[in-house]
Amino acid sequence: LVATLPTREGWSTPLTLHNNFWLRSHMAQKFMLVRDNFKPRRDDIILATHPKSGTTWLKALAFTISTRSRYDFADADHPLRTSNPQRVVPFIGAVGGDLDFLETLPSPRLLSTHLPLSLLPPAVSAVGCRVVYLCREPKDALVSRWHFDNKMSKGDPITLDDAFTMFCEGFSPFGPFWDHYLQYWEESLARPQEVMFLRYEEIVSDPLKVARKLASFLDAPFTEEEEKSGVVDQVVSFCSFESLRNLDVNKTGGAERAGGKIFIQHSSLFRKGKVGDWVNHMTKEMGEKMDRLVEEKLKGSGLEF
Ligand code: A3P
Repeated sequence: LVATLPTREGWSTPLTLHNNFWLRSHMAQKFMLVRDNFKPRRDDIILATHPKSGTTWLKALAFTISTRSRYDFADADHPLRTSNPQRVVPFIGAVGGDLDFLETLPSPRLLSTHLPLSLLPPAVSAVGCRVVYLCREPKDALVSRWHFDNKMSKGDPITLDDAFTMFCEGFSPFGPFWDHYLQYWEESLARPQEVMFLRYEEIVSDPLKVARKLASFLDAPFTEEEEKSGVVDQVVSFCSFESLRNLDVNKTGGAERAGGKIFIQHSSLFRKGKVGDWVNHMTKEMGEKMDRLVEEKLKGSGLEF
């Protein structure tokens, strides 16, 4: 299936262009099956993110909130204390989310994906699945991407200049980032009750507000009693950068991918967790260039950074 598609080197693994989006070549075949073979259910909740936008954080929050009557997050055997958040919420058609396995999960399913909307089955929209989309200010997303790729790669490191050029060309895993953002943005305008559009920056600035919003969206609003007893603060604090990073399960371990060409350490999912870290890496000129590109690409959509 993938053999005839354009493939390009540059990031830690080659990427293959499929329907105008770049997918890691070793995953492309699996992802191409998702559109035809993944069977969305009306009550699925899909956490869709552009990579390095806070997927791990969103997964932890959504999982903790939606399962809090089943699992006490103070317990040592809470799934987020025994497994990495990326594993706890399976990726559709990818790590931990083989399509046959997804069929066996009871409803309502909490699932995740980095795939653009156009590579998911049209039934996701048609049956009205709920989607929480998370994106991030692109300069910070790129810096995070660049660190992450260099951390997992077993080859020579990529320079930030090269990473910047590739990202601005739309050449990055699941890129072009602007088309990824725009597809879900437009879906959130078309289906406002069913698609929640979030940004990393708004969770950083008011995590309690986002946690409440998320809880209502997941049909698990915080009760008055929970509000009074501080449960919302406890959820936010349990899912915070420091808390997740310091869990033993996230300090150790990881997995080989791409036939051993890369190794993803759980700890590499928790780097700095800040807004605006790009200034510590990019020049002012690079920042201005990226801002102009983003403005041009998002022009007229109503989406701004
Ligand atoms: P930085 O590299 O800027 O630190 P993803 O989970 O989509 O791969 O995104 C990873 C980014 O989210 C990293 O950003 C990581 O540090 C940050 N992150 C992970 N968990 C977080 C949390 N609980 N709170 C805030 N940021 C978090």
